[in-house]
Amino acid sequence: MNLRILKRFWVLNFLRRLAQASKYYNNKYAQILRWGIKSKEDTNYTYNLSDKNICYLAHMISVVTSADYQLILKYIYEAEEDEFLRDSIIKVIKNSPSRKYADLDIRLGKRLGWYAFVRVQKPKVVVETGVDKGLGSVVICAALLKNKEEGYVGTYYGTDINPKAGYLLTDKYLEVGKILYGDSINSLSQFSENIDLFINDSDHSADYEYQEYLTIQDLLSENAIVLGDNSHVTDKLLTFSNKTNRKFLFFKEEPINHWYPGGGIGISFK
Ligand SMILES: C[S@@+](CC[C@H](N)C(=O)[O-])C[C@H]1O[C@@H](n2cnc3c(N)ncnc32)[C@H](O)[C@@H]1O
Repeated sequence: MNLRILKRFWVLNFLRRLAQASKYYNNKYAQILRWGIKSKEDTNYTYNLSDKNICYLAHMISVVTSADYQLILKYIYEAEEDEFLRDSIIKVIKNSPSRKYADLDIRLGKRLGWYAFVRVQKPKVVVETGVDKGLGSVVICAALLKNKEEGYVGTYYGTDINPKAGYLLTDKYLEVGKILYGDSINSLSQFSENIDLFINDSDHSADYEYQEYLTIQDLLSENAIVLGDNSHVTDKLLTFSNKTNRKFLFFKEEPINHWYPGGGIGISFK
């Protein structure tokens, strides 16, 4: 029907406008259906990022670290193409009781950014709060092992309240990483090493997130980077950055072929 006629009648125009708006969401329902059939995940969803999104991520890390954009991209592809890492994750999932809730298609999403930060920054100490299966843990430890081959030694500490968390951290990755079980703030309060890279991904309530930043504030090394996995939901890393005179940026994930709208990486740096 002619657009001018449609616009003349309120009801027809109303329906036309609803159809126009819903075009942005209809594909999501198809993705939800596909995901419901194909995926086994029911929490901490994993997905790949679009190529454009990966380039945006690399540029953002380049701005934060002053490292060359092409170098960051090289590190991101290094993680994506690490066959040993993928095989190790798949092997553990296949033999784990939680294989009922995990997919064998390994999708790293924002963890590619975590990996690149570790490769560029060569941190001595990395802390990630909230480990879950240990996907972030094993990715970070893979980066630390590559750094070690280049002469830069670093250690990963993950924290999780669930005693069964972190089962993906196995094999050679245990050489550079360990998990501190118990409440994260409790573990961080007893932590005494200087932290070069801190990643918040545990209890996602705003208050808890902020308490974690305050707890590690005095442990941060001079050029420490703090990454927040909750910055698409709260402004706590932004608030912490303002309070401590640090800069803040936010990278927004753009998942492909997934209904989840994406989280992101809050980045707090000097
Ligand atoms: C979103 S998941 C972590 C995902 C993980 N970083 C990854 O890369 O896949 C959140 C985790 O935080 C843990 N958690 C929740 N509250 C916690 C607390 N108070 N202390 C420590 N860990 C906690 C949960 O057990 C869960 O495993």
